[in-house]
Amino acid sequence: MRAATESATPGKTTPLNVQKIRQDFPALNQLVHGKPLVYLDNAATTQKPKSVIDAVMAFYTKDCSNVHRGVHLLSERATKTYEDTRTKVKRFINAADEKEIVFVRGATEGINLVAQTYGRVHVGPGDEVLISALEHHSNIVPWQILCEEKGASLRVAPINLQGEILMDEYARLLGPRTRIVALAHVSNALGTVNPIETMIRMAHSRGIPVVVDGAQAIQHMKVDVRRLDCDFYAISGHKMYGPTGIGVLYGKERMLESMPPYQGGGDMIGSVTFEKTIYNKLPYKFEAGTPNIAGGIGLGAAIEYLEALGLDRIAEHERDLLSYGTDALQDLPGVRIIGTAREKASVLSFVIEGIHPHDVGTILDQEGIAIRTGHHCAQPVMDFFGIPATARASLGMYNTREEIDALVAGIRKVAEVFN
Ligand SMILES: Cc1ncc(COP(=O)(O)O)c(C=O)c1O
Repeated sequence: MRAATESATPGKTTPLNVQKIRQDFPALNQLVHGKPLVYLDNAATTQKPKSVIDAVMAFYTKDCSNVHRGVHLLSERATKTYEDTRTKVKRFINAADEKEIVFVRGATEGINLVAQTYGRVHVGPGDEVLISALEHHSNIVPWQILCEEKGASLRVAPINLQGEILMDEYARLLGPRTRIVALAHVSNALGTVNPIETMIRMAHSRGIPVVVDGAQAIQHMKVDVRRLDCDFYAISGHKMYGPTGIGVLYGKERMLESMPPYQGGGDMIGSVTFEKTIYNKLPYKFEAGTPNIAGGIGLGAAIEYLEALGLDRIAEHERDLLSYGTDALQDLPGVRIIGTAREKASVLSFVIEGIHPHDVGTILDQEGIAIRTGHHCAQPVMDFFGIPATARASLGMYNTREEIDALVAGIRKVAEVFN
């Protein structure tokens, strides 16, 4: 099944037919505590369209077999569909070659892979790894582990009260000992869209490679890795309407080629003797063991779905929702939005005076509204704002203004309960 598209007027972006899109997502059509589900936890994971569910089901129903090694028909079919996804990812992010598309479990594993391979070779005692103050733990801890092991230090570019990286400070921290820069494209806790292209250019002008954590960007905007010129770009399938347990690490071919393998095992080898192992060619050198075949196949269906709709149209719809939601939340007494960067994508993090975010989430749940509360795996961001947690509504392509209205009504109810 293809995504719901509309005929486009040349030169103009046709708005998404959101009601039609919603019909493609079975999970959206359910009651929660007797109320229609309002799913606003898309930054944690997105719901899946039927085409993705069907693709996974088709693999297990018809083609279930292992990939890359079989001579029988099922294995050939599974390998073809799985490898087709690599080509789709390449096209989707405009990579130069399938060799640059490494399948991993998700953004977390992608970043760990770079830290444990490229990082272990290129970072030594006294060196520095530069991140920012708005990173997800996935883009902090792997670098801390590396720095600890190597006697290197982790430097952090600070943010302002809007949740924007201070570019002067960033420039200052790009020093002679900086060996890697690792930055989120979009912050999961605040929604800030970083000026990533500029930041990459600044790092490159000093010869420093850049790892981009794209977990919160890829589903909201067109990402072109060659235009960005990033050295690595990590994404999670489950945040872009695909299955859990599958993601992609994009790496420039010459970088991947120069790196040692990540894990050892089947599939990542050309030949093995007890004396010496010759590693497989790219990208398989980084893909030890049986992969998440069903997940890879489902990811291919998710990419087709996104491409059929068009990232530009999705971005436009989500921009409208974000500005509608920002205006509505700003008008609510006692509500403070955390993260007010000029460039934002799809995240409304907020606190309500005198009410713990956990209570906000629990009461909203009773209204059928799913949001996330907590530190969002970005504890340093919470520390910076001097709060333990926020309530976070995060938007996806299938959300509507009516759902924002439901959120606002829910927040009013929360305030009533506590007053
Ligand atoms: C910005 C960011 N980076 C990395 C991750 C980690 O993604 P995953 O858990 O899918 O590996 C997340 C997940 O929320 C995220 O929001």
